[in-house]
Amino acid sequence: MGIEYSLVDANIYDILPNFHNDKLAFLAKDLDGKQYIFKPSWIGHFHNPNEYIAHHIGSLIGAPLLDGAFLKISAQNMQKWDKIIKSFHHGAIFPTFIPPYNNAIFFAVEFKQDSFNAKNSTELQHELNKSSNKIQYYSQFSLDQYLKNPDRHFGNHIFFKESHKLMFYLIDFDRIFTAATDWSNLSSNVLDFECFKDDGYNMELYQTVCNTHIRTVRDYAGYIEKISDEDIEDICKTTSHVYSIDKNKYDKLLYWLLQRRDRIFDSCLKNEPCYNKVTKRGYLSASR
Ligand SMILES: Nc1ncnc2c1ncn2[C@@H]1O[C@H](COP(=O)(O)OP(=O)(O)OP(=O)(O)O)[C@@H](O)[C@H]1O
Ligand SMILES: [Mg+2]
Repeated sequence: MGIEYSLVDANIYDILPNFHNDKLAFLAKDLDGKQYIFKPSWIGHFHNPNEYIAHHIGSLIGAPLLDGAFLKISAQNMQKWDKIIKSFHHGAIFPTFIPPYNNAIFFAVEFKQDSFNAKNSTELQHELNKSSNKIQYYSQFSLDQYLKNPDRHFGNHIFFKESHKLMFYLIDFDRIFTAATDWSNLSSNVLDFECFKDDGYNMELYQTVCNTHIRTVRDYAGYIEKISDEDIEDICKTTSHVYSIDKNKYDKLLYWLLQRRDRIFDSCLKNEPCYNKVTKRGYLSASR
């Protein structure tokens, strides 16, 4: 059985601060009061489907992700926020009715109000050592490599206390496919597995991985390699259905995810020199 996402009726009640041109995140509540956060796609960008795709893949491999759901926002609620946004951001267009949207349905994750970020590597390692799901931290390296997500830094990690346990979560996947705006250049980077040395990826993160952890990084690459064709097709079908993706984009997306899945394990091994603290590298020490 694959992963199923619910479709939940919800209302937007606020905007996350820091709203400017390419940043726009909404806070919404469902009928039970559960809070969600989501980013609509800005014009010509696929922020929202990107978040969904990464969440689905990440959930299949057991990455530390917050609950995700599709939210259905009423037309009335959308219009209210459209007016508010336009009132303080000249020229802003609420991108609801701009493709790739199928009505006002957005992928969202649970909003954890009292979460916090680590400010630097020392703080990160300190909090991680206290976290109940520390092992899941190491999923990000293979996952980001698979999805070509260069946007990984301390701000895209959150910690949250849950019934006396500290939990670590990965957030913010809207720039997967190397921020490919509307996926038009997907075909050109399908076999590109260069490590993220020159991108926005925070290189300090590679230093949090040592010989003991690199095995876990490999394990996660192995889990990606084992994702079934059916699960990947399922993701593409849901994307196509919710976001009205045309056949050409559907085919590109399917091809991209399948091709990279088949190469992710070997590519992650080849990229092990990125991790300065790892000395035991390569096929001989790899467990598959
Ligand atoms: N699910 C969440 N629960 C709690 N806080 C969150 C959640 N998602 C985001 N935040 C907070 O909002 C901040 C910004 O969110 P996010 O990283 O998703 O967007 P961004 O980096 O501002 O935008 P982008 O990189 O897409 O331009 C996070 O650093 C975090 O503090
Ligand atoms: Mg971010």
